[in-house]
Amino acid sequence: TILILDFGGQTAQLIARRIRELGVYSEIIPGDTGYDRIPDVIHMDDVKGFIFSGSPESVYDHNAPALDPRFLEDGRPILGICYGLQRFTHDLGGRVEQKHTREFGRNRIKFRHQSPLFKDIPEGFISWMSHGDSIDTPAPGFRIIAESEHHHPAAVSHEELPVYGLQFHPEVSHCEYGSEILSNFACEICGAGKEWNMHMYMEEAAEDIRKQAGSKPVLLLISGGVDSTVVGGMLLKSLPHDQVHLMYIDTGLMRKNESVKVEKTLKALGATHLHIIHAEKDFLDPLEGVSDPEKKREIIGDAFIRVQEREIARLGVENSILAQGTLYTDMIESGKGVGNKAKVIKSHHNVRSPLVERKREQGLIIEPLSKLYKDEVRALGIELGIDPDVVNRHPFPGPGLAVRIIGEITREKLQILREADHIFISELKARGLYHNIWQAFVVLLPVRSVGVTGDAREYGYVCSLRAIISRDGMTADVYPFEMNDLLEISSRITNQVRHIGRVAYDISSKPPATIEWE
Ligand code: XMP
Repeated sequence: TILILDFGGQTAQLIARRIRELGVYSEIIPGDTGYDRIPDVIHMDDVKGFIFSGSPESVYDHNAPALDPRFLEDGRPILGICYGLQRFTHDLGGRVEQKHTREFGRNRIKFRHQSPLFKDIPEGFISWMSHGDSIDTPAPGFRIIAESEHHHPAAVSHEELPVYGLQFHPEVSHCEYGSEILSNFACEICGAGKEWNMHMYMEEAAEDIRKQAGSKPVLLLISGGVDSTVVGGMLLKSLPHDQVHLMYIDTGLMRKNESVKVEKTLKALGATHLHIIHAEKDFLDPLEGVSDPEKKREIIGDAFIRVQEREIARLGVENSILAQGTLYTDMIESGKGVGNKAKVIKSHHNVRSPLVERKREQGLIIEPLSKLYKDEVRALGIELGIDPDVVNRHPFPGPGLAVRIIGEITREKLQILREADHIFISELKARGLYHNIWQAFVVLLPVRSVGVTGDAREYGYVCSLRAIISRDGMTADVYPFEMNDLLEISSRITNQVRHIGRVAYDISSKPPATIEWE
């Protein structure tokens, strides 16, 4: 394992992912974590080296994150990146300076000394810089091994110890040979084994699930999304099938054929206790006449809780262990790693659930994905034999089509939206565009506009297509369709969905817009 100390830089997660892509396991802990807290997350013997991440702070800022000096005395290899380099340089008695010429973006690197960090890497490669402060004088015992175009130190290393620092960011994709540099560090200098792959993970996680579950029944709420489906697959792989209870609530706000597909997928994985709850009435009745988006979400959240509790009691599975599809990013974001230095939490998406709170208090929760990034969850899904179509689906929000019908929700509008959305998504797949897009859907607007069909004037609904590219949903760019694709898709929708008379394409990025319209 390579342990990454996160000093708040935007790319700390990226470092962890790059290391894992090399086949080496990595974990992230807050940068100011005490050295003696490491065993809380990981066996000390498993740690082969440390990487200190970048930070938006300068070492001279009042609230600059500190580094426990015991990391520097530990003896295992260290790689400081940007702030990480400045941090240890400052702490070990070197000089960090606020330069007038800040370096941002592409920058050619010139070597000054040979170093195992740059093994097999050609001089003059293009790095990617983003820093204000730089190293003026390396700490005693360190020397500059590479410099930037502007002759600022770009890399340092200790003359005897395996301690290295980079002023540029090898983890970003614009940095040439970035993965090779990280590989030189993790595999060669640290000697970390390439032991991280989804097959091994699957075997180990299955063993953990068996240990945690014992002979107790395990309950999983299935949303139909990637994460819960993969957890379902993991449970069915690890436990006797009749120990696994899968519950899926059809809210009436799902897409066309969605519930049928979910059922098919889970049956194919061997599910025997698959409880499909048809709860349309529980959701749609209280939504009648409601058009305020927040109110809609609240009603849906409450209905979820009510239906969950009712059905769990009806099925007699109150005493089961609850399995959840929590991901590694959720764990870090909610500060559940060491140090509890919680970062920004994207809480508005997480439905508050008394069931989860209760089970957590009782210690009856299994989270088999809590060490995985989203792309690893997908790889695990494939390893489990789940249909690639399911594993590579776009995300779909918990409140479903309710947030895609602007204004009041009616059964008729749901039907119209389902048809239009189905055509859009099928067309994207048929045109080979679906996987270039991060999320795509149709929004039904509460306006009608004039149109002509034959000789008659008709008032039809207006819908908008939305298709975006994104990395994590936090920001998004509009997908740049070829005009012809848009024209043909639009014409298929207006021809085949009777009540839609006009199609628009939403060309707003996030920010300032959000991905969903409500
Ligand atoms: P926004 O609209 O906030 O969406 O830009 C970002 C991502 O989150 C999804 N989303 C939701 N997911 N419950 C969910 O489970 C919600 O209430 C919700 N609202 C938005 C959205 O689909 C996008 O992927």
